[in-house]
Amino acid sequence: MLNGKTAIITGGSRGLGEAIGYKMASMGANIAIVDVGDPALAEKVCAKCRQEYGVEAKAYQCDVSDFDAVKQVVTLIKADFGTAHILVNNAGITRDGLAPMMKEEDFDKVIAVNLKGAFNMIRHTSALFIRNREGCIINIASVAGLMGNVGQCNYAASKAGLIGLTKTIAKELAPKGVRCNAIAPGFIATDMTGNQTDNPLLKMIPLGKMGEAADVAEAAGYLATAKYVTGDVLRVDGGIAM
Ligand code: NAI
Repeated sequence: MLNGKTAIITGGSRGLGEAIGYKMASMGANIAIVDVGDPALAEKVCAKCRQEYGVEAKAYQCDVSDFDAVKQVVTLIKADFGTAHILVNNAGITRDGLAPMMKEEDFDKVIAVNLKGAFNMIRHTSALFIRNREGCIINIASVAGLMGNVGQCNYAASKAGLIGLTKTIAKELAPKGVRCNAIAPGFIATDMTGNQTDNPLLKMIPLGKMGEAADVAEAAGYLATAKYVTGDVLRVDGGIAM
């Protein structure tokens, strides 16, 4: 379904990004991982994409919050893969704290990675999509961006910002054949959250349990092929934000 396409996945070396990479590879897409973390993890994901799904896969070390570094990495990806068709802005961090006590650098860092990082990636890849008259951007937001969350004013603001970014890019690039959607995951078991069983938030989830990375990956696979869907925010949250 995505044969011959190239998907760039930020933060693709573990967690949701890793699962999204496998999903897209299973659909036939070549995978470019952009991550600032342990290169060995990213290489392991690439090796699995090559061996299990027979696609091309390569990892790039890059901090998505660095405008110039993102420009360089997109140039490298273009040289290696020829072009790109899908961008998943998944890289994200938390630096939690109550707003009255939050350090300025913790606010700035979360906005820089989660929100500006997505802008940087879109800024430098959109020329490829426009040239192809085809492209699909998926921004991984969060239910925190829809509902707010105590102790996460920086994170919730970054994710709400991502939703505004998503809708604006969807409007700007629709005439060029480029779609842009967001996924708002709820409480998903990954390294970021751990697999919690006693968190009181679990009681607020109508489906009664944490989600799995594969649930978010399914949604990304759907959006990658949903050719009449743009500007949407798809909740994958067990119903918590309805
Ligand atoms: P994770 O912490 O397991 O993985 C995040 C990945 O992003 C890591 O590989 C990390 O190295 C990479 N990364 C971090 N900063 C980066 C930077 N500056 N440049 C490039 N790569 C960077 O997190 P997880 O849980 O897989 O989350 C992925 C995305 O999903 C994040 O945007 C997160 O906010 C979002 N999300 C996660 C939820 C959850 O319950 N796990 C719920 C809602 C949203």
